[in-house]
Amino acid sequence: MTKPKTAVIILAAGASTRMKSSCAKALQPLAGRPMIEHLLEAVRGLEPERLVVVVGPEMEAVAKVVAPAVTVVQEKPLGTGHAVMAARGELKGFEGPDDGVLILCGDTPLVTRESLATLVQALNVAADDNSKTAVAVLGMRVAAPHQYGRLVTIQGGGLEAIVEDADCKPHERDNDLCNSGVMAVRAEHLFGLLEAVGNDNAKGEYYFTDVVAKAREQNLTCVYREAEETELLGINSRAELARAEKALQRRLRAAAMEGGVTMTDPKTVWLSFDTAFGQDVTVEPNVFFGPGVRVGDGVHIRGFCHMEGVEIAADAVIGPFARLRPETKIGKAAHVGNFVEIKKSEVGKGVKINHLSYIGDARIGAAANIGAGTITCNYDGFTKSLTEIGGGAFIGSNTALVAPVKVGKGAVVGAGSVISRNVAADALAVTRAEQTEQAGWAADSRKRHSRSKKD
Ligand code: UD1
Ligand code: MG
Repeated sequence: MTKPKTAVIILAAGASTRMKSSCAKALQPLAGRPMIEHLLEAVRGLEPERLVVVVGPEMEAVAKVVAPAVTVVQEKPLGTGHAVMAARGELKGFEGPDDGVLILCGDTPLVTRESLATLVQALNVAADDNSKTAVAVLGMRVAAPHQYGRLVTIQGGGLEAIVEDADCKPHERDNDLCNSGVMAVRAEHLFGLLEAVGNDNAKGEYYFTDVVAKAREQNLTCVYREAEETELLGINSRAELARAEKALQRRLRAAAMEGGVTMTDPKTVWLSFDTAFGQDVTVEPNVFFGPGVRVGDGVHIRGFCHMEGVEIAADAVIGPFARLRPETKIGKAAHVGNFVEIKKSEVGKGVKINHLSYIGDARIGAAANIGAGTITCNYDGFTKSLTEIGGGAFIGSNTALVAPVKVGKGAVVGAGSVISRNVAADALAVTRAEQTEQAGWAADSRKRHSRSKKD
């Protein structure tokens, strides 16, 4: 017997009317990437023989994101059954007696690889009468099930039908066992069953879910398995998108803490799908990690920081209230303090930028000290230019560094300077005007003013 193979069809051609967006639903972001990419990651874990994504006529953007997966176009969104039919050509020849087809919804992105594997395996468990299972459905218990199809079960874990919410009779509405939309069908039956599905229902659509009733009409075995609701949330509206985000954030935070990260108040930390942490990292409350952040061992991130596209080396201390923007590298044990923004810059080992600064397009050598209020003037209205600060340099408070400009190693820049020419290593550069003083001026001025008030 040859090993059973799996093909996967992902449905993403729906009109997504409930989302009220010009962006395709499959591309709505969760934890910093399009929701369909989360689903694809789980699917790729199964190493499917074929993978087809069904998209609508104007969804080139979705096709681009899912590439190299094959896409087919469903010309009109006439229902999930009609969408599966659109993939028929791509499944030609995929009809081995033990092969299974997994049908997934692009709007159910949190399903895990493990649950998908369980469902595929369910097809190969012989039923009581020794017949092969034709359809396996992943179900979930939902407290307020409105919107989901309901699983109509028979004794012994069998499934009789799926009734869509819009078609439920009053007594069927109380059924809390719902269809997640994740279904597996034995390849040899799939399109035969689908051909029998009509659209005489509340929505006038070809429901893919009707394949269960069609299979039962032929006495084929249908089964269901259950998984957690948080893994199977269907996303049709912005409110459901927010719920799914919450569930995913909880999952990501749990994984981070499992890996050795301390979070003082986990529920206030927002992570991206790819946030990478070393060990013994501490994250204080209210921190946002956008995509592309790597955090080294022992880093301490204080509250209210916002980061994306940044690499932070071991033992650095960031924040509170720091903003680190893409293409930034923070060196080992560097300190970046409050109200500091850094963009596209390399900050060396042990550098201190502790207060109120903007550092953009800069390279800062090890152990340099950047005083409060230092600004790199990297943009002249037309081009961005580089600021280079040598190791051990000391930039006095409230300095403007007008790029392109270099401050040599170990140089000192006096506070309040506007540096527009290079500074040599170990030199002192000061550009502010000479200080003047007039003895008694202030007292005289006060006297003058009090006299004029009496007049
Ligand atoms: C569907 C199921 C429902 C299940 C729920 C789980 C059907 C008929 N209903 O309902 O039983 O409880 O998912 O979340 O299957 N799509 C197409 N072409 C179409 C219509 C839809 O590709 O013509 C795609 C959508 O883009 C979406 C998926 O199929 O990714 C499901 O469609 P949706 O309209 O969201 O179905 P639900 O009402 O959520
Ligand atoms: Mg849906």
